[in-house]
Amino acid sequence: MSRMDWSDVDAFLGTKLLARDTLLEAIQHTNDVAGLPSIQISPLQGQFLHLIAKIGNASRILEIGTLGGYSTIWLARALPHKGRLISLEFDPHHAEVARKNIERAGLSDRVVILTGAALTTLPQLKQQGIGPFDLIFIDADKANMPAYLDWSIKLSRPGTVIIGDNVVRDGEVTNPLSTDPDVVGVRKFLDMISSDRRLTASALQTVGVKGWDGFAIIHVGQPPLTH
Ligand code: SAH
Ligand code: DHB
Ligand code: MG
Repeated sequence: MSRMDWSDVDAFLGTKLLARDTLLEAIQHTNDVAGLPSIQISPLQGQFLHLIAKIGNASRILEIGTLGGYSTIWLARALPHKGRLISLEFDPHHAEVARKNIERAGLSDRVVILTGAALTTLPQLKQQGIGPFDLIFIDADKANMPAYLDWSIKLSRPGTVIIGDNVVRDGEVTNPLSTDPDVVGVRKFLDMISSDRRLTASALQTVGVKGWDGFAIIHVGQPPLTH
């Protein structure tokens, strides 16, 4: 199997399973023209996240890492009328492009994009009593994934679902000697999951237009009883 086959299958499945979406296509074009890196989730992954939000009846969603709002739109479209999505983005240019895209998608009444380092805005959310969230999508800088998991749990309730993107990294995640800060971050993120008794998790390897990577999916349960 090659990367080309993976992309072909993604295209085939997209044709079968996804509705033609000229708005999202136009928004992706806008993001390319604006010079944003093309690291957004794929269309099939977008519909996958949308389904997770729908299946869980998520009405309060948190996203860490907005980019141009592509994943934001997939998630926000799953919200009920009074639902809310907060997305955190460090880069002011990305945030500005994303806000315009959200407006264009008719989702401005449900989506707020907060500009700043997520490690600054996450404590602010907690301080302001915002949360708990039903669904949290972690997709910003990978080196900070352990800290984002920590904050995500603080902003959770029993039953919250947390999804982490990019946990496979072309298989590099298995390399204990890796000095790549992204890989080190993902490995620590997985270690944290395995040592936290509140969390039940799995991960799905994905291949497709984005190459070989994966999602971690985590359920936050009741805190363990103390004696
Ligand atoms: N979720 C998006 C892709 C996000 S790419 C999608 O699928 O459409 C990762 C984003 O995280 C980038 O826009 C980057 O600027 C942002 N980012 C990087 N470091 C960050 C930080 N410390 N806090 C918040 N966002 C950050
Ligand atoms: C990168 C980041 C992502 O969130 C992603 O989905 C793919 C690639 C990156 O930083 O290279
Ligand atoms: Mg990602």
